[in-house]
Amino acid sequence: MKQRNLILHVAVCSVALGVILTGICPARAQETTREKLLMDFGWKFHLGNEWGTGEGPINLGVSTGPARSGFEDSSWATVNLPHDWAVALPFDRDASASHGFKPIGPKFPENSVGWYRRTFTLPAEDAGKRIWIEFGGVYRDSLVYVNNCLVGRQPRGYSSFRYDVTDVVRYGGRNTVAVRVDASQFEGWFYEGAGIYRHVWLVKTAPLAVAPDGTFVYSRFKNNVPQGPAEINIETRLANFKTNSADAEVDYEILDPDGKNVATSRANATVAPSGTREVKQKTYVASPVLWSPETPRLYKLVTTIQSGGKIMDRVETEFGVRTLAFDPNKGFFLNGKPYLIKGTANHQDHAGVGSALPDALQYFRVRTLKEMGSNAIRTAHNEPTEELLEACDRLGMLVLDESRVFASDAQDLALLENQVRRDRNHASVFLWSLGNEEPLESSPIAARVGRTMQTLVHHLDPSRLATFAANNGNEFLGVNSVIDVRGWNYDTGKDMDEYHAAHPEQPNIGTETASILTTRGIYVIDQARGYQSAYDDSGNLPREDTNTAESWWTYYAARPWASGGFSWTGFDYRGENGWPDINANYGIIDMAGFPKDDFFYYQSWWSDKPVLHLLPHWNWSGKEGQNIDVRCFSNLDEVELFLNGVSLGRKVMPRNSHLQWMVPYASGTLMARGYKNGKSMTEEKVETTGPPAAIKLTPDRTPINPDGEDLSIITVAITDAQARVLPVADNLVSFEISGAGKIIGVGNGDPSSHEPDVYLPYTNDRQIAMNDWRMRLVLDTKDRPEVAETFSDADWERDDVNTETGPLRENTSAVFRTNVNLTAEDLTAGSIMLRFGMIDDDGWVYVNGQPVGESHDWRASPTFDVRRFLHAGDNSIAVAVHNGDGPGGINKGVSLILPSKTVAANWKRNVFNGLAQVIVQSGTEPGEIRLTAHADRLAAKTVVIEAKGHSPRPQAAP
Ligand code: GAL
Repeated sequence: MKQRNLILHVAVCSVALGVILTGICPARAQETTREKLLMDFGWKFHLGNEWGTGEGPINLGVSTGPARSGFEDSSWATVNLPHDWAVALPFDRDASASHGFKPIGPKFPENSVGWYRRTFTLPAEDAGKRIWIEFGGVYRDSLVYVNNCLVGRQPRGYSSFRYDVTDVVRYGGRNTVAVRVDASQFEGWFYEGAGIYRHVWLVKTAPLAVAPDGTFVYSRFKNNVPQGPAEINIETRLANFKTNSADAEVDYEILDPDGKNVATSRANATVAPSGTREVKQKTYVASPVLWSPETPRLYKLVTTIQSGGKIMDRVETEFGVRTLAFDPNKGFFLNGKPYLIKGTANHQDHAGVGSALPDALQYFRVRTLKEMGSNAIRTAHNEPTEELLEACDRLGMLVLDESRVFASDAQDLALLENQVRRDRNHASVFLWSLGNEEPLESSPIAARVGRTMQTLVHHLDPSRLATFAANNGNEFLGVNSVIDVRGWNYDTGKDMDEYHAAHPEQPNIGTETASILTTRGIYVIDQARGYQSAYDDSGNLPREDTNTAESWWTYYAARPWASGGFSWTGFDYRGENGWPDINANYGIIDMAGFPKDDFFYYQSWWSDKPVLHLLPHWNWSGKEGQNIDVRCFSNLDEVELFLNGVSLGRKVMPRNSHLQWMVPYASGTLMARGYKNGKSMTEEKVETTGPPAAIKLTPDRTPINPDGEDLSIITVAITDAQARVLPVADNLVSFEISGAGKIIGVGNGDPSSHEPDVYLPYTNDRQIAMNDWRMRLVLDTKDRPEVAETFSDADWERDDVNTETGPLRENTSAVFRTNVNLTAEDLTAGSIMLRFGMIDDDGWVYVNGQPVGESHDWRASPTFDVRRFLHAGDNSIAVAVHNGDGPGGINKGVSLILPSKTVAANWKRNVFNGLAQVIVQSGTEPGEIRLTAHADRLAAKTVVIEAKGHSPRPQAAP
């Protein structure tokens, strides 16, 4: 069929005058078929590999174990996403150091496979729509089943992926999704978590719609100078799932950061049956507001698709208008001006929650980094969570968006394409990173792989360049010889200067700079306890090629061509350290988000605010008269230090550096006075504190939204009688919570604390194996007298129910019986589950003569709550079984499971150098959340957080 020409109507009349005439008014979207429903709540979760992969023979809808719809999962834990099961495992010295001594991975198969199940209901009216399930990320190797059908496998742990499940869902009924996650293999050399650690969404669209990640919008200015009107380039990929071609009218509306319509345009396109079509558009925005970390103002593109007079789709896409450029001699430019990257690399890992960061925690972390004056994040060493990019767009933080895999095979290129398509609208993303420190990075293979990946990135995104985080110093080999922007991991100094001199045409960036191990509030290296000192000293460097904070920043600050760079790391992360450390304490900020002293070094030279910070603390009882190494971070001109009111001298602050005094210790007050232009500006003091006197609880936010996702991150401090935080306190604090929220994790930033981050409610289930069965063949299974409570089976044949198969031949029936004796105490349990390994093929189950349920799926492990049919004393259990094909019967064991009462989680944590953190999450109802903290010999303290405001996002019905 001949395709109709694409007709573009651009709503621009006079660009030169900076006037935008919006001649076409797109229809206001009242309704759209698109729905994006959160599927995070109410999953059943089981850790263990009892059922294999869930795959059956290669037949549609033939799956096994938990992959099957009828599988009984009521005894499984209920969890909400994002979820990381590894964080709740105990520490184990035999486990991988690089993965934080969590017993997971190749050596621990029993902890490395998990299953998730939940249901979702689709109304009958959804028939005819496209239905997708989208996963933000699953670590790792996931198999997804919908209604017994395998819908896809994703081995990689950091990629987002989606499955079109339109063909296998049930409309007007309940559907089951089961996900098997296999974290037996590692992908990196750092803690990676395990499970569905990002969001899951159910997405519905019309059969004619914007394709998944099918919108691309980017701005351009003449000569890349951000003046006058911005050219807004829009690309839309339309997908038509119908068997006839579809005419689409595509309307675009651009809203400025205040929500005002500033440009519109329209295109028409015909999309072939079962085809896709790219629509390219250009429009202009006169005098746009530019996005930057300092001015994170976002525009919104609203794309509306109409066909046959009906609105089919409406997609909103946030984007930023800004220019990016790399100059080989002047470095990085943002919006036409030189802009030094003051960045940190970060893994996705936080105290309490592991890799499963709720969105509010992403915002908390970005805000903390901004507080330090940082303007960029490198998502080391993998594709980020989309919500992190959203936080960076909205709060103002540049992002170096990295791929976990450096490879050009078809599968990995497809994942790179997904990454670029997903992330390319984000204002924050300023550069792509194709990889990090690859063993082959200097080889011709790496040159070819790098070129292939970079070409794909350029093709998908003409608005950004690519880099690669290389640690091969002064080598113009391999990937370095082809990459747009040379990425430097370490090797500052001679290597870098000589490389730049020899390759003056290639821009540079410090992809990884300082790597220095420091522990918050510790000032002597204490190897036995796994502590480094918090001084920014070369003695804390793990190896020679790396730098302290001060040494990398002074180097880069003096060389604008190097563009600035990313310190390793912003936050501490689990793994990459040796016992007793379970964290790598490379962070400027600890696992819980508490700043270490270096935070203030960076804040001095990265932020605009006046900074004056003294270290160490002043609690050195027993060291009276001994010299203490006192340092000061400040961006003021001069600093004068006083001990107990006596001046120890006034010094000029060297730029990008620090001041130091050796001070004989005497308890009391150490005070710094900062001067600007000769005038005293501010004072800062550290004081010798008294003994612990109180608990202080400080939430980062209240109120929080009652949406089941939002967080209040509560700082727990031990203070003295004058409300001063005790810098050496290590009190154990326990927590109770009531009301409209729950605790999801605790932490304290101590790199060698082996306390749990997560406390789970627990039940000690008791299992009674039921092995003593008798059996009699019968003609059919209807109304059998043999199932009666007291029917005598004394002369029946014995049967072993622990076999894999048998004993019935094809097309035969039998009744199986056994007895169980229970005490009155056994019956105090709220539920008692009767669990069959397998009933092959059909079974009718009776307890004391009463029917309790049926099973018609030989692959399921049917389980029935039989509590109400049981009584104290002797109970009979009978099953009438009909076997169709092959051998059949009752197999794979039978047991009675008596759960004990659930014991509430007993949350607690030691403060580390005075501080700990409790992460509290709202429920889905508004109300008060009360958190009470107890510690020995101190008065209990309660903080109240209000949950009010936004209710839960639209949810997929269970
Ligand atoms: C780098 C590497 C990082 C981390 C760091 C520790 O070379 O890229 O992932 O391992 O060393 O210093």
